[in-house]
Amino acid sequence: MIQLVYAYCPHGNHFGITVNGKGRLPWAHCPKDLENFKNVTQGTSLLMGAKTWQSLPGVLPGRPHIVLCNPDKPVPILEGRVMLHTPEMVLDPSHLIDFLEHHKDSDAIISVIGGISLLETALPYASKVFQTRISSIHPMKSDVKLPETLDKLENFKLVEHKISMDDIHTIAFNEFERKL
Ligand SMILES: NC(=O)c1ccc[n+]([C@@H]2O[C@H](COP(=O)([O-])OP(=O)(O)OC[C@H]3O[C@@H](n4cnc5c(N)ncnc54)[C@H](OP(=O)(O)O)[C@@H]3O)[C@@H](O)[C@H]2O)c1
Repeated sequence: MIQLVYAYCPHGNHFGITVNGKGRLPWAHCPKDLENFKNVTQGTSLLMGAKTWQSLPGVLPGRPHIVLCNPDKPVPILEGRVMLHTPEMVLDPSHLIDFLEHHKDSDAIISVIGGISLLETALPYASKVFQTRISSIHPMKSDVKLPETLDKLENFKLVEHKISMDDIHTIAFNEFERKL
């Protein structure tokens, strides 16, 4: 089964920001979002683009990581993180559609966690979407925006909606399932 997991700021659809050449999230540290991300992805495999991989704070425990990476390019190796060029860890983008077709109805859960083009490609294969909307009293502008398809989710129905707050964020956790 394929599920999408992403967060964005609905005021401007801010999704990702590049700071000093590195990708990061366009809001201040948000522990409730990180806790939710951990809960919904625990025990699943994480599929991500190369830039998202490079923006992680480290390898996330309990979840195999699969990174889309062109075989002609060097695999991104980050300080303290060794990236092995094995089929378990690196997916050639030319095999992406076969991978999504294969896992669409499998028992194993694949969490697609970004970036944008990967989320858009995976959307037609997804059964569930965990979409988090983060509003902040210190809004930041980003250079990566969420497209309308991933904001509106037309072929999905909302099955769970929770609101949470901390000192600077209001967070809406939305769980969608594909309409039958
Ligand atoms: N708000 C959120 O939930 C969230 C989640 C994840 C990331 N982010 C943020 O978003 C930004 C990065 O996202 P992004 O969309 O720019 O990049 P991305 O999807 O993470 O990475 C793009 C790279 O992945 C490789 N790739 C090759 N084929 C691909 C394919 N078919 N689909 C997707 N990727 C492919 C390419 O690397 P090569 O050119 O090296 O082959 C491409 O440049 C960062 O700022 C990050 O912090 C936000």
